[in-house]
Amino acid sequence: MTFDPAKTEYDQRPIGVFDSGFGGASTLRNMLRLLPDESFIYFGDNANAPYGDKTEEEILLLAENAADFLMHKGVKALVVACNTATSAAINALRRKLDVPVVSVEPAIKPACEAPGEGRVLMLATVATTKLARYRALQARMPDPERVVNVGCSGLVERIEAGLVGEADFDDILREKLSPYEGEKVDGIVLGCTHFPFIAPAIKLYAEAHFTGECRLYDGNAGTARQLKRVLSRERIAAEPGTKPEPRVSFFTSGDADICEPIFRRLLEIPIYE
Ligand code: DGL
Repeated sequence: MTFDPAKTEYDQRPIGVFDSGFGGASTLRNMLRLLPDESFIYFGDNANAPYGDKTEEEILLLAENAADFLMHKGVKALVVACNTATSAAINALRRKLDVPVVSVEPAIKPACEAPGEGRVLMLATVATTKLARYRALQARMPDPERVVNVGCSGLVERIEAGLVGEADFDDILREKLSPYEGEKVDGIVLGCTHFPFIAPAIKLYAEAHFTGECRLYDGNAGTARQLKRVLSRERIAAEPGTKPEPRVSFFTSGDADICEPIFRRLLEIPIYE
């Protein structure tokens, strides 16, 4: 983006946010808190979730369609609130779109910077763990071998069905995490935006099966801060105190009558933040 001195100082257009489904609501929660003057248009690609078991080409196409949908709504910036879509499509989206594009990525950096010699478990979709962009991020860590990538198929489907209870995920967590039974785990990175909604289930499992502090990390707060910096740098922040209404408009490729109530509930429920 180039600096345009003729631009007005405020921009009341909404910010577009998308995810494969409901996960981006965890990113949006952070943005709503940090940016009280902004309004958001959220697109959940619920009909095509999960992205995490698809090929890079399929994810790229779906991410481009989601971005096009939001661009047609007249958004001033785009947030890719999906680690999987970031891994597969962020470069293509930045090349193609003429608005700033902000993304979420697995928060392995703060997890690796925290002191300790135990493992850092990075829970994400299978696609994220395999794609080159995430692999390059891992390779930049001072101690990349400390990070163990765990592709967690199955969790997203249940969260998409509206489940977030502490006991709803034990079978899948056991299947994916039993290889590390009894090990020292310093940090667990929630590398999928759906996972903060089941942080209590993950924490409970970790406390029962690992030693070590098992601190949870996600990239959502960093994404919200980055969005704030970009809005100010591009001089497209909304005017303070104008109280936009509605703050969040919701669109989905799925059944809106089913999806919107789940989305609105996820924006409100207590999670660990
Ligand atoms: N919420 C998404 C992420 O952060 C993807 C979940 C999925 O569709 O598999 O990776």
